[in-house]
Order: sequence, then structure tokens, then C-alpha cells
Amino acid sequence: MHDKQRPVRVGIVGLGTVGGGAFNLLKANADEIARRTGRPILVSHIGSRRDHPGCDTQGVKVSRDVFAVVHDPEIDVLVEVMGGTTIAREVVTQALESGKHVVTANKALLAEHGNEIFALAEARGRFVAFEAAVAGGVPIIKVLREGLAANRIHAVAGIINGTGNFILTEMRDKARDFIDVLKEAQELGYAEADPTFDVEGIDAAHKLTILAALAFGIPLQFSKVYTEGISALTTLDVAYATELGYRIKHLGLTRRTGDGIEMRVHPTLIPCDRLLSHVDGVKNAVLVLADPVGSTLYYGSGAGAGPTASAVVADLVDVVRAMQDHSPDARARVPHLAFQPDALNDTPILPMIQVETAFYLRLMVEDRPGVLAEVTGILSRQGINIEAIIQKPAHDAGIIPVIILTRPVLEQHMNDAISAMASIPVLREPVVRIRVESLDA
Ligand code: HSE
Repeated sequence: MHDKQRPVRVGIVGLGTVGGGAFNLLKANADEIARRTGRPILVSHIGSRRDHPGCDTQGVKVSRDVFAVVHDPEIDVLVEVMGGTTIAREVVTQALESGKHVVTANKALLAEHGNEIFALAEARGRFVAFEAAVAGGVPIIKVLREGLAANRIHAVAGIINGTGNFILTEMRDKARDFIDVLKEAQELGYAEADPTFDVEGIDAAHKLTILAALAFGIPLQFSKVYTEGISALTTLDVAYATELGYRIKHLGLTRRTGDGIEMRVHPTLIPCDRLLSHVDGVKNAVLVLADPVGSTLYYGSGAGAGPTASAVVADLVDVVRAMQDHSPDARARVPHLAFQPDALNDTPILPMIQVETAFYLRLMVEDRPGVLAEVTGILSRQGINIEAIIQKPAHDAGIIPVIILTRPVLEQHMNDAISAMASIPVLREPVVRIRVESLDA
């Protein structure tokens, strides 16, 4: 058989939600996919500790030892969808060393070890494709690497964790309990193996690390992402934000400033008139501000079998096409991190205290004369300009919520103001602060 007609042989390691979805999708859309690639794609070896009840693997070799797939000489492309950063790192490294291309959905692996993995892939002339690592079915990697390649990117802001967004949406719309919604997200296959990765922002930080590298041509620097989760958010603040014309979203944001690059994940008030604030449920969306294109927004399902499989299989299509190029060297195509590997910048990543944002503050204070003057005095001494201040009706036992929206201020100044507020004698709870982003161009 002419080499171009020989099926491309694929090994899949990890037959969970993503692996099972990709396996079934390759079967279901086999003809359509072959019309796109010019060659059939055949899953010939699966490595998984257990079977997937929704996958008919008859006729496919299945090994319990994932390294049996990695070292199978028949395999051209290895799909790593097992997750984790220890065995998965070995799997990917050994696959590249044995001359295989790799497709992975593993954002943690790439965010933490991507620099060395891409260097190895480049040295071996192999390709590591990772569309499924960020925003599930939304092809944001291709957008940043190819579609916007002519632009200078200023900022990327995204709702990039489906589980967290699903939880926030249910809390807002149905006043459902946090734990109850999280359980449903796990059952639906959205959540990470360790769901604290979702709700504490670690998953989003992994994805943001990748987006920042692609947007600005910098190495992957996961340890420098400021990360704050949603587990401490209350329905009270969700409701007040709505009343003030905002929605609280768990946002991942990376921005280029004159002093360096911001990389941060935290709950964020977004004005209701921004499209991003209407991205609900398990949906993800990524906003890119770039010159000269302006602002563009990419939206879709960020988790679950179908959307993630869509991205994994699209990567396989890319790799198969690359294998058919006259040059067998995958380096000749699109650089892994969008910029040529020898052209990455060492632009500093800004520590959070140097980041400027507006703030929503909630203080629970005793209803006494002069309290507001004391609070506004502290803000004014830190040079913090107030955009709006609202005193809500008393809650229990004469405790009143005071809500303040500020203009943009350096995080350091806000930290100092909040420390000073702690000594207000009538303050009954720690000050709640949530950052606000207008997300305008
Ligand atoms: N746990 C992730 C999420 C899955 O909820 O978005 C997709 O990366």
C-alpha cells in the first residue's frame, strides 16, 4: 500500500471522558475525517487501567500498561488524555523520544513542564498538539497561533473553567448550594479528578499560562500566575453585583502593560453590557484584544466529552496533514508557542501588588454615626477614588452592609486600605473585596 493511503495509527492513553469521547468521535465521523486528511485514522492501541462503558473497543488492542502503547512501534501518533503530571510526563517524553507525534489535552502538564516538552519535540522534529488543553471545544489555540498571527496582542481574558462557571451560574440563577452544583458538574464529566483544581482556580491558571505564552511570546510560567478561587464567594455578593449592573465571573486575565505582563485568575465583576458577562453554564469564552483587529470573542463548550473530543480529533487531523507535507519535519509548520522558539521574550511577570484594577468592597458594620466617614477617609488617604457607595438596609442585629465600587487602584494601595479598615471598631466581618474589570478596548 502506498504510504499515503496507509491508515495513520493512533494510540490513546487514558480512556476516560476525553479519551472515550475521542475514540467514539473518530469512529462516528471516520469518513468525514478521512475526506479532510486524505488518510484514514485508525485507533490501534489503547492504554487504560479500565474499560469505558460507552466505548466498543472490539478489534482494538487494549493494554493495562500505558507504556505498552508508548513503545508500540506501529503507533504514529500518541494521544495522551490520562491527565496528571507524573506518569503523563513520562508518557509524553518517551513517546517523543521514540519518534511519535503527541496530541494532549493535558493543560497541567504543559503549564508546568511544557517548556521542556516543546524543546524535546522541536529537537526531535515532532509535534505536540494541544488544542483540547484550553477551553475544550473552542479552538482558541489555533486562533492565537494562526488566526491572529498578524496582530500585537494586548490582553486575553477568559472564562476558561466550565465547572466554575456552571457553579456560579447555578448559584446566581437558582440560589443552589455550592457543593450540590459541584457534585452535578462531576457527574456530568466537567470537573477535574481533583475538583479543587476547578473551584480554586488552578485549572484556569494552567490554561491561562498557555494563553499568555501564545499571546505574548513568553515561556510558560505557571508558578507566576496569581490564583484565587470561587469557593469563598457568597450568594450575597453575587446578588449585590447583579443589583449594581455586574455579574461575577471567574476570570483568567493576561495583559501586557508598560512594566510587564499580568497573569491572574480571580472572581471578577464584569459589567452586564459586556458579552462575556452573559457566558453561562459550562460554556467558556475567551476575549482577545489585539491590534489591529480590535476585540474578538470566542465562545463554546469548555468541558465534557463531545467538545474536548472535537479539539483532540482536530489536532489529530492537523498532525496527519503535517505528516503528509513534503517536509516530514513538524517544526516547519506552526511553532508550538506561536513564536519561533529562539524569539521568546523574558518580559517580567508583574507581581499582584503592581496590578491596577477597580474593586468592589463589602463591609459589614454597626450602624453608627461617622462610620462611612471613617471608611472613606481611609480610602482617600490611600489615594483611592470612589465610583459609587451604597448603604444597604440593616441585616441582623443592626449590622449594615456597605458596598463600595472604586476606580482603578494599585493592588498594594488597596491592601493597605483594607489593613487599615481592620481597625475600625464597628467592623463586624473581614472586608470582602472582588476585583472589577470593564474589559473595554
Ligand atoms: N475541569 C475543566 C473545566 C475541564 O471544568 O473546565 C476542561 O478543561
